[in-house]
Amino acid sequence: MRYLPLFLLSLGLPLAGQVKYLAQQKMFVLTAGDVTYAVGVNEKGELQPVHFGGRMMRDGDFRAAHSVSGWASFDLAATTTPKEYAGAGGGLFVEPCLKATFADGVRDVVLKYESHQIQGDSLVIVTKDITYALTVALHYKVYPQGIVRKQAVITNGTAGVVTLESAQSGSIHLPPGEGYAFTHLYGRWAGETQVARELVQPGLQVIESKRGNTSHQANPWFAIDGPERATETSGQVWFGALGWSGNWRIAVEQTPHQQVRVTAGLNPYDFAHPLKPGEKLETPPLYVGYSKEGFGGASRAFHKFQREVIFPGGGAARPRPVLYNSWEATEMNVNEAGQAELAKKAASIGVERFVMDDGWFGARDTDRAGLGDWFVSKKKFPNGLKPLIEQVKGLGMDFGLWVEPEMVNPDSDLYRAHPDWAMHFPGRPRSEARNQLILNMARNDVKEYVFKVLDDLVSQNEIAFLKWDMNRNASEPGWPEVAPADQKKLWLEYTRNVYEVIDRLRAKHPKLEIESCSGGGGRIDLGILSRVEQVWTSDNTDALDRLKIQEGYTLAYAPKAMMAWVTDVPNFNGRSTPLRFRFLVAMQGSLGVGNNLNKWSAEDFALAKKMVSWYKGVRGTVQTGKLYRLLSPRSADGFAATEYVAEDGKQAVVFATLHSQQYGRTQPRLKLQGLDAQAVYQVTDIDGKFTAVLSGAAVMEYGLPVALTGDYAATAYTLERQ
Ligand code: DGJ
Repeated sequence: MRYLPLFLLSLGLPLAGQVKYLAQQKMFVLTAGDVTYAVGVNEKGELQPVHFGGRMMRDGDFRAAHSVSGWASFDLAATTTPKEYAGAGGGLFVEPCLKATFADGVRDVVLKYESHQIQGDSLVIVTKDITYALTVALHYKVYPQGIVRKQAVITNGTAGVVTLESAQSGSIHLPPGEGYAFTHLYGRWAGETQVARELVQPGLQVIESKRGNTSHQANPWFAIDGPERATETSGQVWFGALGWSGNWRIAVEQTPHQQVRVTAGLNPYDFAHPLKPGEKLETPPLYVGYSKEGFGGASRAFHKFQREVIFPGGGAARPRPVLYNSWEATEMNVNEAGQAELAKKAASIGVERFVMDDGWFGARDTDRAGLGDWFVSKKKFPNGLKPLIEQVKGLGMDFGLWVEPEMVNPDSDLYRAHPDWAMHFPGRPRSEARNQLILNMARNDVKEYVFKVLDDLVSQNEIAFLKWDMNRNASEPGWPEVAPADQKKLWLEYTRNVYEVIDRLRAKHPKLEIESCSGGGGRIDLGILSRVEQVWTSDNTDALDRLKIQEGYTLAYAPKAMMAWVTDVPNFNGRSTPLRFRFLVAMQGSLGVGNNLNKWSAEDFALAKKMVSWYKGVRGTVQTGKLYRLLSPRSADGFAATEYVAEDGKQAVVFATLHSQQYGRTQPRLKLQGLDAQAVYQVTDIDGKFTAVLSGAAVMEYGLPVALTGDYAATAYTLERQ
């Protein structure tokens, strides 16, 4: 009968404001666009999740949180009652958010509500252990795009050291039940952002990185769809992502009591974080959202949030320029004349930014030497970088440079001077990968060195853009200079210091833009994406593989930051696809060109010029529009299509690709989405061969006739609203 009186108390008014405290119900109601996230204080003073899903309109619809009785003598209420931020203690057997050991050896944390503060769209709820002065402040912020940001700040108010053994950003709880499915992204070098989907089972399903960076192996994004199964266009999807580029973990759990919950944050693997009295630990942010419009609706909401909130400059940021990168053309054989020649050719097709990749510094003729010595090679550039930069600028482009600042080759002056700067355990082997070691960025002196070399480079040369690479993961993560009890802090401090260097560099050079690369897509997450304009999606530039890599990528992340280059064939798999196909695949993100332009024919230049110019006419829509994944490249018939609709609805762009035609079959009409049924559009294909004036209803209900033939065929359309 608790529910009824509260229901009667309601005035039936829509919820005002974005964060609200309902005193009677002891309930926090967070409204983020069409999404409501509600958490209450139960009769025991514990914070208990109440609702995460579609928007609730009436205060009276919320019933006060109440703990759930235990199950026999085995599952105490600590386990059966959903906890907003569960301390490992009091008989908790589900995944904790916080696990800690106090100075006296006590290993029991039970958190209860202490106080709260609401400020506009933000809420802080302070919880405290029942006995010790260990507090956890839960920070929430709501965004109109339908996203809630969660973060925990753990403070040691005791007089002794408290060692944290697990510090999660938070959990979400789905409506009790079974039959949920878990979608996530997995991969490896050259095969990133592959899509996996599996039934949520009793027990734990874990995705994680133990590699010191975000990783190719798994990405810190998840989506859970309900027992009714979501599709690309319909059904409930709960999703989220961590803003962290170090070791992370996402644990999807179905408890014995049919409670599905997702707990995400710092990876407890090799984690021990001693907090001295008064010290705090701020967890990475966890961003969560909900959509009733399937995976398409979920990703459109998340993309919009990323573009407007996460990406540097937000909604006001300019479109990504068309870029040329020298890597696949010249590898490390760079010099002034050769790069200037490529720059001239790149400018002739409309490229706006010329990026010189690896090989310009130290003794970098092969990957065996040079990393760490960030000084322009006198042999390759006797007059420094300035003459090349001047030529690039004279051609109307800006200049970008590749760096890999966290790394060192044993064959380098830096390593000879500071062998202790590389991560290592004294007296034990240091595993090399690509002949390189990883610097211990957790060290202050290393961080300052890295900042200085980058600052000097950017201060002394007109560098508009850095491609920041990281070509190996951490091994032998020793930090012998600090006390043994503090050495595991390396994982956290490493990432924090990488962020600090980027933040300081950007603050000092506000026009500088950065690309995050880690041997392709090894460092793509919302932490790095809040600091860089773009990411290198994969070293695999085979256009066919790219279709799937890009599809997985866009499930989680907005296409604006997704760099996609056109490169030479035969490519990665020994496969050759037509230049047109390669362009039309790469144009579905932020376009780059990485070909050896010295080998191009006049026809190649003419086609590239046409493609780049067409792309410039649609890139606003591709980079900042709403993405509809119309047909998946994972489908059996190999016919794939994407559609981008400008936020103002004035333009739509459609890309269609065919892997290989069989039996002379034609493609089904392509039904578009997200247009105004009443409006009329001028529809034109990229070749200007198909033009028609069609209503939104016609292209959405009847569809667009696409007639691709042969292998690796591709086309594109624009729809201009009349
Ligand atoms: C790995 C990157 O992903 C490539 O694009 C290129 O920059 C190489 N490193 C250079 O060593």
